[in-house]
Amino acid sequence: MLRGIYPGSFDPVTFGHVDVITRSAGKVDELIVGVLNNKAKSPLFSAEERVRMLEEITKEMPNVRIFPFEGLLVDFARKMKADLVIRGLRAITDFEYELQMAQTNHKLEPELETVFLTTSLEYSYLSSSTVKEVAAFGGDISRFVPEIVADRIAEKMKKKESVD
Ligand code: PNS
Repeated sequence: MLRGIYPGSFDPVTFGHVDVITRSAGKVDELIVGVLNNKAKSPLFSAEERVRMLEEITKEMPNVRIFPFEGLLVDFARKMKADLVIRGLRAITDFEYELQMAQTNHKLEPELETVFLTTSLEYSYLSSSTVKEVAAFGGDISRFVPEIVADRIAEKMKKKESVD
């Protein structure tokens, strides 16, 4: 039984993330998507909201489960009895940070391996922060995120407008 963890902030989840989830779910027996609940940051969506959207998006993927986590990824991976951490690599600019993270995690937990999937070409430019920026200025994000995410972002932006 090979269990993988795909950790991230997913604020919000993009088609690039969905691509990595779909492809890695085909390579492991069970895929756990770990949603970081980072109390030091103020995300657009709460961890609960991100978990709910990911649950909706992956509802047809029987071997995918979504969990929030706090603290160190290695501790979460140990708790979940995961064998692998899976991360997507979009471009060389991702590499330095990803290498540092993988090597740190390997020092902390030598049994835990990190594997990288190269993001599909059509999503290699995509990031959660650019999606938020386009949405904040009223741009069309339907090519970047699943429909339910686009709808939720539109609701958030409307709420923000009425407060400002
Ligand atoms: O989607 P992101 O923001 O690139 O994901 C980053 C994430 C959540 C994988 C990373 O920040 C993480 O694992 N955070 C948990 C804290 C931790 O374990 N840090 C030590 C590794 S350097």
